[in-house]
Amino acid sequence: TLEGKSFPDGFLWGGAVAAHQLEGGFDQGGKGISTADVMTIGANGVPRKITDGIDPNEFYPNHNAIDFYHRYPEDIKLFAEMGFKCFRTSIAWTRIFPNGDDEQPNEAGLKFYDDMFDELHKYNIEPVITLSHFEMPYHLVKKYGGWRSRKVIDFFVKFATVVFKRYKNKVKYWMTFNEINNQTDYESTHALFTDSGIVPKPDENNEKLMYQAAHYELVASAKAVKIGHEINPDFQIGCMIAMTPIYPLTSKPEDILFAQRAMQTRFWFADVHVNGFYPQWLLNHFQERNFDLDMTDDDLQVLSQGKVDYIGFSYYMSFAVKDTGKLEYNESHDRVKNPYVKASEWGWQVDPVGLRYALNWFNDRYHLPLFIVENGLGAIDKKTSDNKVHDDYRIDYMTDHIHAMKQAVLKDGVNLIGYTPWGCIDLVAASTGQMSKRYGMIYVDENDDGTGSLNRYKKDSFYWFQNVIKTNGAEI
Ligand code: BG6
Repeated sequence: TLEGKSFPDGFLWGGAVAAHQLEGGFDQGGKGISTADVMTIGANGVPRKITDGIDPNEFYPNHNAIDFYHRYPEDIKLFAEMGFKCFRTSIAWTRIFPNGDDEQPNEAGLKFYDDMFDELHKYNIEPVITLSHFEMPYHLVKKYGGWRSRKVIDFFVKFATVVFKRYKNKVKYWMTFNEINNQTDYESTHALFTDSGIVPKPDENNEKLMYQAAHYELVASAKAVKIGHEINPDFQIGCMIAMTPIYPLTSKPEDILFAQRAMQTRFWFADVHVNGFYPQWLLNHFQERNFDLDMTDDDLQVLSQGKVDYIGFSYYMSFAVKDTGKLEYNESHDRVKNPYVKASEWGWQVDPVGLRYALNWFNDRYHLPLFIVENGLGAIDKKTSDNKVHDDYRIDYMTDHIHAMKQAVLKDGVNLIGYTPWGCIDLVAASTGQMSKRYGMIYVDENDDGTGSLNRYKKDSFYWFQNVIKTNGAEI
């Protein structure tokens, strides 16, 4: 019934990536080593190794990635051809402060983003920039233990301030920490390392480490929001939350209550970003656990002064849980299979209805503009001998999700400002390091071991998305 109706004028259609997953040039232009540079390739079900520094005997897919560092004019031209209104990427912190604690920023790194943003503006594409997307300086991990150290707040704020000032007339939309709530799964080495640069020692309590790191990150985010608004009052600075709705498996009251607690546990990060204070249930939880966190009155003041302007979020899948007998959600153990949804080859539960649910949930809870800054299907693509990729499965996935968005926006009245599908051009997967887990509408001829011509080809989804943008979603 919504066919023929389009999204509101000015809707930000585009695509999303992160610096470390596509730039390559990991040691060029004065760039320092980031956490992503010490992660080897994994496979479906095989975790990436985090090595102690760079081991010459290992393969690190992010080092060269898809060489966007050298090829961005060609790639941005393709984005423009698709009709992008915006392009989400991140600024690699290590291009600006190679070690993280350097006195002076690195001019070559600043210049790289200046040029790239100019290239985007040439085609009227609005940059949407994440400050920290799984790529903090590795030196901060080695010297300070990552975000377990309060000192890192100042390094991050300095980095944010430098780039806010430098790009104050080139970038309007910012986000602070990508998927800050992935680390809810604190038993996952991957989540703690990518979100917070933390490698737990055997005698440490991961849950406590996570809450401490997250607190410092939230303080750093709030400081950045405040400073950003002083530098340019027109800045829109958001948070970035990995939205995976958590459903109760049944209508049993205990399952409902448990699912609610699971949602609180996964999304309190957004509460702090938006409200500027901690929810009471969580403060009680810290006490029950005897977590004596370093959280000062000054910090709490800072949080209340740096509330975000919008909520950026990724949406790939939903989770389900059932009561475990205690009202504490442990993400590594408590998720159950939802019999009503199917899963991708990587086990991600595909659920477009959940996107409408998520949009309404965010809207009811926070009353802020929403921005879907990641969504997509990781799949194995086949390039035919005539250089085509017939990715109808990807078109189907996105059609279903855009349909859900449309219901939420046009029927439910949710204020959604844009949609940037993940990995609009094929890139290195964050979880596995694979090239073969592809999300793009542009195919990149590169194999998991880094071999390939790196040539770019338009997939069927390229032309399909071009039409979605051209018609502002009217034909979905
Ligand atoms: C999100 C991240 O977790 O999902 C991206 O913000 C990531 O960096 C994306 O690439 C998809 O995950 P993956 O592991 O399939 O690349």
